[in-house]
Amino acid sequence: MDWKVLRPYNIEKLKGIPTPFYLYDMGLLSETVSEVVRLSSHYGIEVHYAVKANANPRILQHIASKGLGADCVSGNEVLCALGNGFLPSRTAFAGVGKTDKEIETALVNGIFALNCESIPEIAVVDEIAGKLGRKADVLVRINPDIDAHTHKYITTGLEENKFGVSKHDFEALAELLGRCTNVNFKGLHFHIGSQIMDVEEVFSLECRRAMEIVRYFEDKGLKITDIDLGGGLGVDYAEPDTAPVPDFEGWFRTIAKGMEIAGNPGRYRIHVEPGRSIVAQCGSLVTKVLYVKPGQNKTFLITDAGMNDLIRPALYGARHKIVNMTACSDHEDDTAVYDVVGPVCESSDVWAEGLGLPFSKRGDLLAILSAGAYGQVMSSRYNLRDLAPAVYMDWNGEEVELTTEA
Ligand code: LLP
Repeated sequence: MDWKVLRPYNIEKLKGIPTPFYLYDMGLLSETVSEVVRLSSHYGIEVHYAVKANANPRILQHIASKGLGADCVSGNEVLCALGNGFLPSRTAFAGVGKTDKEIETALVNGIFALNCESIPEIAVVDEIAGKLGRKADVLVRINPDIDAHTHKYITTGLEENKFGVSKHDFEALAELLGRCTNVNFKGLHFHIGSQIMDVEEVFSLECRRAMEIVRYFEDKGLKITDIDLGGGLGVDYAEPDTAPVPDFEGWFRTIAKGMEIAGNPGRYRIHVEPGRSIVAQCGSLVTKVLYVKPGQNKTFLITDAGMNDLIRPALYGARHKIVNMTACSDHEDDTAVYDVVGPVCESSDVWAEGLGLPFSKRGDLLAILSAGAYGQVMSSRYNLRDLAPAVYMDWNGEEVELTTEA
């Protein structure tokens, strides 16, 4: 079928639901996950879904049921992933500041690997594993010093970022790994940033750099079986309907080719950790127009969703496409230009400036698209506002069934 990020004929059923709410199209999620499963098995790449992008139980359960692994960044994410069906043997745990308790949680549950981010952390993992009488499976996150050509808050592989072990510490790292008795070193982990659009250029470079570093450690006598290249595949926020299912083919092909050209003879297990690309497009934040407020030079549309519901615009200057679902179905011929803003007491609580929309009025439903990743999961109760619940759309032929989850 021809997928759209928001199918237009849902509007009547949505009108009765209190706003704002996150609306998830489970059909589009399912289509996206099927593509990931099909292509990753074709290219021989193991996929761990980055739970931080969206940790709603229904979403996790769907992804886990299709056999993907999980990539977690806290002990709670590890427990949440396992509790929603991900296998420990496919669950990884990264993060620069793991607490002793979180390390214990990972070890006791026998997950695939702790992705350690510093030399002091590896020493602590070795010690805790010793105390628990276990061996810790470990990948070491390397800072490959690569520019991901993305927003500075979501680039992670540059030397000045806090993530991973930098090349200045490689010798000390090899030496430490050689003498840890409770660490089973399996390989290397990289993640260079998020919302990467220059897929070929950036990921080919990542593969080349990864293989150079793999060779360095092998030359030091360390055995490597696994290479995790992280997540980062971007999505189209401006025109989401051009690719409701992101270009996984292009990404996996670049990685498979990049590793082959870089001399991977097929003896390593290659892993990736996509978050945004799996869940962004299936989610929209649905909000009501509270007021149409004329200003001196502009007209404001004030919505009942704010930056506490979706912080990406305020935090990164991100712009999500907005559609007026009511006007699209009722009176789409007249258009006007609006600044669309939320109700929170912060000047950065702005969805769009100078946006052309169909003529809009109080009570219209707007959908802020591509909000499935880093949306609900980053929401807060700032201004003591209520948290927006999730509403899931399941498809039964052309019939839609809606389920609300608090
Ligand atoms: N692996 C690691 C180690 C990560 O730190 C991340 C994301 C991922 C995988 C998943 O990356 P993705 O495929 O989703 O790009 N809140 C920001 C994005 C922060 C990403 C943090 N790390 C946003 O809303 O744009």
